[in-house]
Amino acid sequence: MATIQELKNELKKLNAEYAKIKDLPADQRADFGKELNIKKQQLNAEIAAAEAAAEQEDVAPLDISAPCDINGQMPEFLTADFGSKHPLMTELDRVIAIYQSMGFDIAESVQLDDEYHMFDSLNFAKGHPARDGYDTFRTEEGFIPPAHTSTMQNRVLKANAYKLAEGKAIAVAVPGRVYRNEDVDATHEHTFYQCEGVYVSEDCTLGNMLAILREFFEKYYGQKLNIKTQPGYFPFTEPSLEFLIEKPASLGGKGDGWLEMLGCGMIHPNVLKAAGIDPTKYQGFAWGGGIDRLIMLRYQLNDIRYLESAKLDFLKEFAC
Ligand code: DAH
Repeated sequence: MATIQELKNELKKLNAEYAKIKDLPADQRADFGKELNIKKQQLNAEIAAAEAAAEQEDVAPLDISAPCDINGQMPEFLTADFGSKHPLMTELDRVIAIYQSMGFDIAESVQLDDEYHMFDSLNFAKGHPARDGYDTFRTEEGFIPPAHTSTMQNRVLKANAYKLAEGKAIAVAVPGRVYRNEDVDATHEHTFYQCEGVYVSEDCTLGNMLAILREFFEKYYGQKLNIKTQPGYFPFTEPSLEFLIEKPASLGGKGDGWLEMLGCGMIHPNVLKAAGIDPTKYQGFAWGGGIDRLIMLRYQLNDIRYLESAKLDFLKEFAC
């Protein structure tokens, strides 16, 4: 009998067959399509039956009183048929691929950081109320699970400053997991993903940044978009902007407005200085925004909490 994985592979092959329909003579398309639909229904039924049978299978109980033999058999793992890639990771890969196609390097953000990278290097003055918005959790030792991927800016700038001396630009995208002390509801999570973008050269402008952002969002959503900015405030940018896209009809928009997708701006001279880059010679722009929000719009999810929930019926909808 075919395994679940074999059946799924067959389904994948079958799905690819649909692309052939458009190349067939018009009078053969309907029959070909019908045949595929029938096969697809059969395969889906077989997969469902095989999955149901697998769930019923008896698993030998563990003898927890048995003495431990550290040289004994390797443990038997569940087969990979039971898992699939988490939608957050699939979408993160999509985001990374778009930035790479635009020439950005990728650096992963840290999940535990310190006061200097989270605040001081980003031009947050000591005791400034702007810190409150990023007041996350702290470990007893004083480390900070970062509230935003901007915590990587100083590292990224320092590590790539040599490129400026070679006459090249710094262009890095930084995906990462971030943490906030939030009241959790359908649109707020305490744990989510962001992606930061950092670009520095001798002569880049806000206009270049808006072109990059437009390109990114249009590639991600696969369509032309209306964009706009409005003034914002971040200690690490001057000027600071919020970047919005108009919700398109294909993604549930009813001409009812704009969605704020990320914060951005020209990198503050003090942030460049903290990384040893001369702000009288070089300038840059940066942005950072939530990945979860991107995904929610793409799939029209109405609750951000699904993404960190490990709810199987939700995850299965994304399994392939
Ligand atoms: N880190 C900000 C946040 O999470 C977003 C942001 C704003 C990132 C401006 C940037 C930037 O890099 O330049 O609220």
